[in-house]
Amino acid sequence: MELVFGAGPCPCKLMVIGEAPGREETKLKTPFVGKAGKFFIGILNEVFGLERNEFYITNVVKFWPVIETKRKKTKPPTIEEVRFFTPFLKKEIKAVSPEWIIAVGKTSFCAVAPDNDFVPGKWVTGYNGISVMPVYHPAYILRKQRILATNTKELKKALMKVRERLEVEVGCKN
Ligand code: URA
Repeated sequence: MELVFGAGPCPCKLMVIGEAPGREETKLKTPFVGKAGKFFIGILNEVFGLERNEFYITNVVKFWPVIETKRKKTKPPTIEEVRFFTPFLKKEIKAVSPEWIIAVGKTSFCAVAPDNDFVPGKWVTGYNGISVMPVYHPAYILRKQRILATNTKELKKALMKVRERLEVEVGCKN
């Protein structure tokens, strides 16, 4: 099994946590480099003006969850897979020591703020008292082409709320 670990400065004030790597991420051993990942990073870049090496980015599950057909097909991680990796994620969060977490999708949100409802764009206090901003998963946004513009606007609005807090502290040189 090939693992894809987090990437970025450590410690870092901003941590982005996705669900799991996909085909491209596994090939390049880097999170958020496939179609959905690039789409998401592009929007982060647009909203924050930050390059991907200026924040820490990782996934809850560290391998590509697949259906073993001839050409492997992505599937959502199982509860067991999420449970298995959550203690590692918590150690990773302690090491990165972020002030803000962007939880990309419900799986990520449930791993870091399990006692809260997933409401994209609404700050909650999650693991270790860290502020968590839930956002829609980019694969979900891209799948719903008919409402792509609306969901992208919502995503940008949520990220703007993070930017407001980051504003004075652009970069992760703490
Ligand atoms: N790419 C990743 O590495 N993780 C996600 O959750 C989405 C895209």
